[in-house]
Amino acid sequence: MTMFSGINGFEKSSRNEIEAVQLERMKWSLKHAYDNVPFYRTSFDAAGVHPDDLTCLADLSKFPFTVKKDLRDNYPFGLFAVPQEKLSRIHASSGTTGKPTVVGYTAQDIDVWAEAVARCIRAAGGREGDMVHVAFGYGLFTGGLGAHYGAERAGCTVVPASGGATESQITIIQDFKPRIIMVTPSYMLSLADSFEKMGLDPRETSLEIAIHGAEPWTEEMRKEIEQRFDLKAVDIYGLSEVMGPGVGAEYAETQDGLTIWEDLFYPEVIDPETGEVLPDGEEGELVFTSLCKEAFPIIRYRTRDLTRLLPGSVSEMRRISRIFGRSDDMMIIRGVNVFPTQIEEIICKDDRLTPHYFCEIRRPHVMDELTVVTEAKPEFSDDHNRSHIAEELKKHIKNLCGVSTKVDVREPNGIPRSVGKAQRVFDFRHLK
Ligand code: DLL
Repeated sequence: MTMFSGINGFEKSSRNEIEAVQLERMKWSLKHAYDNVPFYRTSFDAAGVHPDDLTCLADLSKFPFTVKKDLRDNYPFGLFAVPQEKLSRIHASSGTTGKPTVVGYTAQDIDVWAEAVARCIRAAGGREGDMVHVAFGYGLFTGGLGAHYGAERAGCTVVPASGGATESQITIIQDFKPRIIMVTPSYMLSLADSFEKMGLDPRETSLEIAIHGAEPWTEEMRKEIEQRFDLKAVDIYGLSEVMGPGVGAEYAETQDGLTIWEDLFYPEVIDPETGEVLPDGEEGELVFTSLCKEAFPIIRYRTRDLTRLLPGSVSEMRRISRIFGRSDDMMIIRGVNVFPTQIEEIICKDDRLTPHYFCEIRRPHVMDELTVVTEAKPEFSDDHNRSHIAEELKKHIKNLCGVSTKVDVREPNGIPRSVGKAQRVFDFRHLK
């Protein structure tokens, strides 16, 4: 633990201190991966690089990328750098195709992770003694347990609610009076609906802080949540391959994007086409190298998440701007790139609609067809209003995204509510 001791409070370090620690840890991480994971040894050797070739942080670009397929090819434990008896825990994320991607943690990894999430909670304004309602799913998904350990580490009282059983969650929130909730933004909106259905005003709860992540969301969605619950909503980012929730988080006082805990995870942004490292400020694909993970070191992992690196604000650690989408969520409709978050922005700005939506892509003949499915609020739910809103929405989407779509404005409750990560895109192009 010597090398990683003292991470508590490290987010207040100077840029020089941060970079010195990054270099020392990066050397350790590359060597650890090379010495203990045959996959990394083979891929470094094939690229003609050795951990000793790293003399400065920029040298990392000489090393090969790791992609999701590498995890799948080494299923289940092939990328682990420690024997199974040294593992404290295993998590997995279910992919869209076949087998889950599996990740592992030593006791020290769990400790570092808890500290990373505790930082996120403190950045959000959480304090020792606060009650935290965790409504991320518990289980193989990293959200629930990741948030749980972090909240305990931050000295909070944790309510491990997990996802689902919405009505009983509401009773618990009403009766226990938590100050903080950690949950996906889409499930937070489902909670809002249920509060109202139960005749309760979500603005009257004890909640003051909402920490949202695990799926892309927009500024408009933030406004909607803050307004409906009368609280402050901040972003938390992470992915299982890199650790889980807590790779970075937003400070409540600035709400200006996610500060990456750079002493633990080294970020790069690359051009997704060429793989070239882009200068800070430019938009591209986020890539991470773990700096102190023992069980599952990950080197230059291509996240598929699209964002840009920004200078630090509250901390000197760099930030990323809100993730606006994943490259695999991008819909290419007749040659035009459209992200669900663009659609979300338009829907959330329209006061006649609820914030629930999804997109369907079909190819009835030769051309792709995008249908945006959304839902009217009760006061606008008659046929006339709904078809009028649909026409207007079509125009807005065409103006903003440059693509003609179909729009289906459903009656209230016409869209199934999310209980965890919302699925925004349903692609039926493979069906004839
Ligand atoms: O979703 C970990 C997590 C749990 C993060 C709870 C935050 C809160 P995975 O299931 O492996 O892990 O999915 C990771 O979710 O690559 C992003 O595409 C997306 N994602 C996570 N956080 C955000 C966020 C967890 N704040 C994938 N904004 C990532 C946008 C996010 N997308």
